[in-house]
Amino acid sequence: MVCLGNICRSPLAEAVMREKLKQFNLPIAVDSAGISNYHIGENPDSRSIANARKNGIDISQLKARQFSVHDFDQFDLIYVMDESNYSNVTALARDENDRNKVRIIMNEHQTLGYTHVPDPYYGAEKDFQLVFDLLDEVCDKICDDLKIQLTASNR
Ligand code: 4NP
Repeated sequence: MVCLGNICRSPLAEAVMREKLKQFNLPIAVDSAGISNYHIGENPDSRSIANARKNGIDISQLKARQFSVHDFDQFDLIYVMDESNYSNVTALARDENDRNKVRIIMNEHQTLGYTHVPDPYYGAEKDFQLVFDLLDEVCDKICDDLKIQLTASNR
């Protein structure tokens, strides 16, 4: 899960996805990172921590890190929050295989009508709740799709 700062959207995405993977009984690892080096080593933004808590998830212990080219070796799928993240991550891709791992997350659930997860950094609580709601819906859909794929490939 990748956003710009790794303090607002992607920590929520990481935690929401981890919960969904548990619910779906999918043994898949998830992590998050930021494109920028602005907040390396910091805990999530206090507004993201508060929003997550309100929605029953603790993200207070997560620590921001910067996306690196080695993440292409560590992960099969790289979900970015917006088009700008997509450009920045794909610019680091070494080949077609790396590039094909990168997805704009909202493309996985197009009926929600959002092309990206809006950056809440200059926003208010309702903007953080929108981020949470979108991630909740799209992570559910991704897990649904993964479950179907994995069940089919195990047949
Ligand atoms: P995020 O939000 O990319 O969702 O973590 C932001 C965090 C920090 C900044 C911008 C967006 N910033 O400019 O420091």
